Amino acid sequence: MEKQRLDKIIASTGKWSRREAKELAHRGQVVVNGITVRSVEEKFDPNLEEIFVNGEALCYRRYTWIMLNKPAGYLSATEDGRGETVLDLLPRELQRQGLFPVGRLDKDTEGLLLLTNEGSLAHALLSPKRHVDKLYYARTTGRLTEEDCRAFAVGMTLGDGLQCLPAKLEILTAGEESEAHITLREGKFHQVKRMLAARGKPVLYLERIQIGNLTLDPGLPRGAFRFLTEEEIEKLRTLV
Ligand code: URA
Repeated sequence: MEKQRLDKIIASTGKWSRREAKELAHRGQVVVNGITVRSVEEKFDPNLEEIFVNGEALCYRRYTWIMLNKPAGYLSATEDGRGETVLDLLPRELQRQGLFPVGRLDKDTEGLLLLTNEGSLAHALLSPKRHVDKLYYARTTGRLTEEDCRAFAVGMTLGDGLQCLPAKLEILTAGEESEAHITLREGKFHQVKRMLAARGKPVLYLERIQIGNLTLDPGLPRGAFRFLTEEEIEKLRTLV
């Protein structure tokens, strides 16, 4: 791998900004291959060299993968003149890493959103050919019925001609309002909302809780993010 400036390598972890990296180095808290390095302009190969910051081994990753618990009110985009995007929920250092959302959630949808700068894996996960399952929790108006489940299971054609693959609707509670888990194998625009609206049960609230074998971390508050672990990234790779 190409050598990179030390401040860039340190900032790629998302834990410190480049300015903080510089201060840490000035304070003698950056050690490369056992030698204290005080200038962050020096270049190293992060895959070959042992870098310690504050006594902690730096875990360098070529690509960044982030799990975000998306709150309502943010657009799944990198830039949008119409409002705040999910990137606004990340610290500035991470905003500069070329991250983009892996697929979209509507502005009012909450829950699991992945962000990365690893284009090849992201695009493979999104490919319509892969059919990676996505699990949603929905609250709807009206009573969901077994008939609705059957309509989802055989695959629906919506009024506007949109063909939906067979999907799973699992009723959790049914009443004047209902709650359900929905599993889709594709990700067409507003798909959950359109399918439920077509059954006369419009969505009141929607949250994504799982993508393939990756579940939203229950310890992650709404609006917060964390890095995926190596194991989680490997789990994603098994899907494609
Ligand atoms: N389906 C929808 O209708 N909206 C989303 O945000 C995701 C899936």
